[in-house]
Amino acid sequence: AISCGEDFTYGSSCNFSCSEGYLLKGAITVTCTSAAEWSEEIPHCEVVLCSELYEPGKGSMACSHPLGSFSYLSTCTFTCEEGYERLASSSATLQCGASGQWNDSQPQCIAVSCPTLQQPQDGAISCGEDFTYGSSCNFSCSEGYLLKGAITVTCTSAAEWSEEIPHCEVVLCSELYEPGKGSMACSHPLGSFSYLSTCTFTCEEGYERLASSSATLQCGASGQWNDSQPQCIAVSCPTLQQPQDGAISCGEDFTYGSSCNFSCSEGYLLKGAITVTCTSAAEWSEEIPHCEAVQCPSPVVPLGGQVSCEAPSHPWGSVCNFSCDEGYDHQGAPNMQCLRSGEWSADTPTCTATPEPPLNPTILGLAAGGAVSLSGLSLAAWLLKRIRQKANKFDLNSTSDIEEPLQTYRNSIDSLI
Ligand SMILES: *[C@@H]1O[C@H](CO)[C@@H](O)[C@H](O)[C@H]1NC(C)=O
Ligand SMILES: *[C@@H]1O[C@H](CO)[C@@H](O)[C@H](O)[C@H]1NC(C)=O
Ligand SMILES: *[C@@H]1O[C@H](CO)[C@@H](O)[C@H](O)[C@H]1NC(C)=O
Ligand SMILES: *[C@@H]1O[C@H](CO)[C@@H](O)[C@H](O)[C@H]1NC(C)=O
Ligand SMILES: *[C@@H]1O[C@H](CO)[C@@H](O)[C@H](O)[C@H]1NC(C)=O
Ligand SMILES: *[C@@H]1O[C@H](CO)[C@@H](O)[C@H](O)[C@H]1NC(C)=O
Repeated sequence: AISCGEDFTYGSSCNFSCSEGYLLKGAITVTCTSAAEWSEEIPHCEVVLCSELYEPGKGSMACSHPLGSFSYLSTCTFTCEEGYERLASSSATLQCGASGQWNDSQPQCIAVSCPTLQQPQDGAISCGEDFTYGSSCNFSCSEGYLLKGAITVTCTSAAEWSEEIPHCEVVLCSELYEPGKGSMACSHPLGSFSYLSTCTFTCEEGYERLASSSATLQCGASGQWNDSQPQCIAVSCPTLQQPQDGAISCGEDFTYGSSCNFSCSEGYLLKGAITVTCTSAAEWSEEIPHCEAVQCPSPVVPLGGQVSCEAPSHPWGSVCNFSCDEGYDHQGAPNMQCLRSGEWSADTPTCTATPEPPLNPTILGLAAGGAVSLSGLSLAAWLLKRIRQKANKFDLNSTSDIEEPLQTYRNSIDSLI
């Protein structure tokens, strides 16, 4: 614009000004000199310039320049690539103002940020430098814990994590149970039948754990117990055999509480307990019995008599015959048999002296002669013995087939001779 006086004569002046967005280049006022020239060069208007903007990294810029490059009324619009956004402080569109200033600062594109992540309980997290677009975090769990969810999460362009944030759960082992005839005591520091749970097993008296399992089991980090579920089984006593000359009768097995009965064959006696029972200490309650052959005691030789037995050991069934010497009367059983109980079937008989018959003169003479000759007396005694043996034989019913040399005991004057 120009503002002048009434005319352009000597001394008149003109004032110049520019429209908005334009700057006056030259003098504001010119005056007409005496030389009929304007005092100054005639000025002109130039459009206002703003600073040049640039395309931001990870973004683009689109401008319109109606009055000239980056000049008054130029507008530039900025967009950011996916996953990037303008700094919150800047507008998407900037305009160059009349004063040569953009109405906002040069926009920058920066990567979007996802929410900050924390390390999970009982686990660990490993992330990049920040939580911006494209960054990722890896998750892991402490020993004995399992990751539930994705191992890796990545920050999306929507400023959200690609997966739900995982968590750590304690490892579970199978549930153990109380064995029959036993008990179980457990501690669960991290949860029921979980990692580090320990269970201790005991068996009732007379029962023991299967040799293959430990008393204490622990749940491992892999979810396995370090040994198999214990079972309680009855302890076993040593196997028993039937005794020699006898028999045994036992239950199904030789375990705690079972018992065996013993018996002996005929002619044998059981020495020891009839019944033995398996104790909780895996030992038999009694010493194992054995069978001994029945033996009767040696018979008493009656005074004035003698005894003749079938066998020197007097086994069951053997017979002893009794006889009385000449001049003695037999009172009692003629013989006795050894019973199964080891006792004789009868009491020892007695021989009692018979009343003296009148003396025979021949015998008296012999006796007198005997006083002179000892050998003569011996002959007489031998004769007497032969006679008596013939006279005093007894019958007996022997049940034994045993043929043994006859055993003769004497208890008379003969034997002394
Ligand atoms: C030019 O500007 C001056 C200073 O403001 C003023 O005194 C003068 O009157 C103006 N002249 C014209 C012709 O407008
Ligand atoms: C700058 O000007 C543009 C165009 O008129 C407008 O869209 C934007 O909001 C302005 N920015 C500010 C900070 O005023
Ligand atoms: C995540 O794990 C992958 C595969 O093991 C590895 O290549 C990557 O570097 C890890 N990232 C971080 C942030 O630890
Ligand atoms: C299992 O772990 C318990 C507790 O540590 C231990 O006493 C036991 O001996 C272990 N058993 C085996 C078979 O390792
Ligand atoms: C042992 O004998 C007793 C008494 O006669 C009887 O009750 C029990 O059944 C017997 N046991 C065996 C194993 O034969
Ligand atoms: C006992 O007497 C019976 C009958 O007289 C006879 O058969 C048997 O041999 C006798 N035994 C002995 C040991 O003398």
